[in-house]
Amino acid sequence: MRKTIIAGNWKMNKTPDEATALINAIRPVASGANCEVVVCPTAVCLPAAKEALAGSNIKLGAQNVHFEKSGAFTGELSVDMLKAVGVEYVIIGHSERRQYFGETDETVNKRTKAALAGGLIPIVCVGELLWERECGITNEVVARQVKLALFGVSAEDAKKTVIAYEPVWAIGTGKTATADQADEVCGVIRATIASLYGAEVAEEVTIQYGGSMNAGNADELLRKENVDGGLIGGAALKAPDFGAIIAAAK
Ligand code: PGA
Repeated sequence: MRKTIIAGNWKMNKTPDEATALINAIRPVASGANCEVVVCPTAVCLPAAKEALAGSNIKLGAQNVHFEKSGAFTGELSVDMLKAVGVEYVIIGHSERRQYFGETDETVNKRTKAALAGGLIPIVCVGELLWERECGITNEVVARQVKLALFGVSAEDAKKTVIAYEPVWAIGTGKTATADQADEVCGVIRATIASLYGAEVAEEVTIQYGGSMNAGNADELLRKENVDGGLIGGAALKAPDFGAIIAAAK
């Protein structure tokens, strides 16, 4: 059975002290969770976050990882470095990285393979731009991103990979995809994985929705057959809202 995963993407927010305070506020709202709960603070907050999470059911995630083990890659972090501070999950290919930092489908693929090889669980982000949706090519854009991200990934590793469907027009804009739109594209992602690895593998892959998910719309989104959780930005920075989303997860 695939896991439902609610993950908070804190983006470039919070100092280490603020991260500790937010985790202390999230711990009680996550304690009875029926799902896996993950927080992804900035790299500089990871050690403080790990300490604050001790003894809780909440897992630690990072926001990016490099594919090389070490070397001349200024500003980057390796799988081993993240694992050394207690990271288990890593977001890869977020649209902000694709838009502002030159992330491509090829680097997403390399990062995904490196994360899997090193034992981190990748949360691979895919999603269409507004004009791609208006052009009617959402399904092919997303299927292409999924295929390229998983190129060369074994069936065993594919099962461990989390895919986050995040329509770019819905991120941080307050515009959520409708539950039906989210379900449809998450279904396309599952069908794409089935075409690569077979239906059994596809049934095991957790596919999240992300993009303005909040306390008010989480229940409807999370009730959809193909939506196995959420990747939450803004609402993950407020413990009561994040708690409400966790409570809405099956
Ligand atoms: P948002 O961000 O919830 O603030 O729209 C989601 C994300 O970018 O992962």
